[in-house]
Amino acid sequence: MYPNAQKILKNIPRAMADPGRAASLAWRRMFPFGIKPKDPEAYRIGAWSFGDAPRVDLRDIMPGIESADIKVFRSYDRKRDLSLDAQEVLAICAIASHVNAKALIEVGTSDGNTTLNLVANGDDAARITTLDLPEDWDGSFEIQVPEMMKNVTERDKVGAQYRQSDYADQVVQVFGDSAKLDYDLLEGPFDLAFIDGCHFYDYVKADTENCVSHMVPGGVVIWHDYGMIEDVSRAVDEWADKTGTPVSIVAGTRLAIARLPD
Ligand SMILES: C[S@@+](CC[C@H](N)C(=O)[O-])C[C@H]1O[C@@H](n2cnc3c(N)ncnc32)[C@H](O)[C@@H]1O
Repeated sequence: MYPNAQKILKNIPRAMADPGRAASLAWRRMFPFGIKPKDPEAYRIGAWSFGDAPRVDLRDIMPGIESADIKVFRSYDRKRDLSLDAQEVLAICAIASHVNAKALIEVGTSDGNTTLNLVANGDDAARITTLDLPEDWDGSFEIQVPEMMKNVTERDKVGAQYRQSDYADQVVQVFGDSAKLDYDLLEGPFDLAFIDGCHFYDYVKADTENCVSHMVPGGVVIWHDYGMIEDVSRAVDEWADKTGTPVSIVAGTRLAIARLPD
């Protein structure tokens, strides 16, 4: 029998005794946000519906992470549509701390809030290489990108946040198109990669392949915007299928995570 059927049958007499309350309860179960959510966050998170990877509690993805102590810098100095939200920053800082990341790579620096928070929560001697388009970028991309998928930070804002911090010496800023760079020249191999550059499918695919081929066995790969952006979700799902590496989505976030085989 349908698992809830017995429970429903048992509750029918109680519901008949108080039909108004029962209807209201049933309605809320069917439409958990109400017809019009009062909090706009419900729309934002409710729209993260692309992709097939399982949504999993971070404590089940990385047992032991609950004891990670983290530091968060410039906690709300982020643009929610371009960068991570508060729940995501909490998760990514805890991951960097839990795995004691020493050599990190970030594709897509933007204003450097995540760069700063990642390096601050890794090993004391951690170094992060972060990539963004050239300072004198001429508007062209190595891979042709549809207009809607272009997301470029104003050149003079790139890295602004980590530059003003005590961690500036632990950051290696690299300027170049992420699909054109020679990753052999970077400070790899890396133990944690954060992929958050151009979100067009071909770029996510190329960035993933370039990062993964410059990582240590057992390294952690994190993608941003899974569930929200169809291209990112598809590229990550296909990579998981092709390589046989399980990917989980941190429940309540757009962070996809994989641990490479040892
Ligand atoms: C979503 S933002 C990154 C947000 C940042 N990781 C954070 O968490 O705050 C994407 C960044 O990727 C950069 N970008 C876009 N296309 C790129 C490309 N082809 N190569 C390198 N960087 C690129 C943009 O300039 C922008 O700063």
